[in-house]
Amino acid sequence: MTVKNLIENNRGIIKERARQISWLEFAAMEEKEKIIFLNNSKTGNPFHVLFAQQFSRNSLNLLCQVADKARAIHKYRDEGRRFLKNLLFGTYALNFIIQPSTRTFLSFQTAQEILGMSIRDIRDPNTSSEAKGETLEDSVRTFSSYVDLMIMRHPDERAVEKGAWVLNKSDRRIPIINAGSGKDQHPTQALTDIYTLHKSFDGKIDSRTIVMCGDLQRGRTVRSLSYLMRNYQNMKLIFVSPFRLRMENDIKNFLDRHHIPYQEEDNLEKVISLADAIYMTRIQDEWDKGKEQGVQSVGPKYKFKKEYLNLMKEDAVLMHPLPKRHEIDEEIGYSNDKRVVFWRQERNGMWIRVALIAVIFQKEQKILKYTT
Ligand code: CP
Repeated sequence: MTVKNLIENNRGIIKERARQISWLEFAAMEEKEKIIFLNNSKTGNPFHVLFAQQFSRNSLNLLCQVADKARAIHKYRDEGRRFLKNLLFGTYALNFIIQPSTRTFLSFQTAQEILGMSIRDIRDPNTSSEAKGETLEDSVRTFSSYVDLMIMRHPDERAVEKGAWVLNKSDRRIPIINAGSGKDQHPTQALTDIYTLHKSFDGKIDSRTIVMCGDLQRGRTVRSLSYLMRNYQNMKLIFVSPFRLRMENDIKNFLDRHHIPYQEEDNLEKVISLADAIYMTRIQDEWDKGKEQGVQSVGPKYKFKKEYLNLMKEDAVLMHPLPKRHEIDEEIGYSNDKRVVFWRQERNGMWIRVALIAVIFQKEQKILKYTT
């Protein structure tokens, strides 16, 4: 048997296994075991996007390269934009985002439009037939009858995973992307963050110290970004949070296993001068049981004050996945200090999503080869 035949045979076995596996079996697997059922077996790049652990250094480099090139092409209003629009002309995307979202929703929608996709959205769960008792499984199968790509943020913690499982068994196996569903991960925000580091440091992300501050226990963006650190060399993380909101052990165990050093602190001011990137996060009080128990702010030790800009390294950056509340001095949002990058970060989110969709549909070489 030739190598090509062996690979094809292996693909066939994975496909068959994906069709047979029960939800209970799939749900019980560790995330790293699920990757074989999520990534494209031919390219190694993600097909369904559920977890940050699906991305390798190669796939991250490719995404950053494609995002850079797509935004350069887009500057050529007539020819460039038409070229991008033709890439996925005639295909359809569904944004099934039924929890609050501004930038993930808008950046995905705009990214789809840049690539020429036609767009459908469901934002209110009361307007889909789940409200009449349809199972999530049947809803996902139904969506796949009409569209070629599904983006999902859903209150059910395992919804996107279940969606991928259903689609793997179906005859219309369209890709599904986790748009920050559930408590654990927000993989496309982590891609946004990596792309922002790539742009801020001229593509040199290795050997950086990243301070993550705020609600690290429930912040899915810091969890996903921590997983991506495995792809870079000599990284160091400093976690700053109140004791009750510190980073969970599963992430700390992952960092230990991959020899990524981290330290835990409880005072932001103390560690600012050590950082190449400071990543602020909001208190995720939407996960508190009763709103009356919720805390909107964790106090001055975890707030980035205007005077802290003076403590930052000259080439460090101040990031935030947004939305923000009081954890960054309001004035900083209007500062023209080049190190304040969170507004650029949210725009980067649109371009990295353009790149992600292009890679899922295997259009990346067309983008990279385009001559302006
Ligand atoms: N960062 C992020 O996920 O923002 P939205 O909740 O506004 O989509």
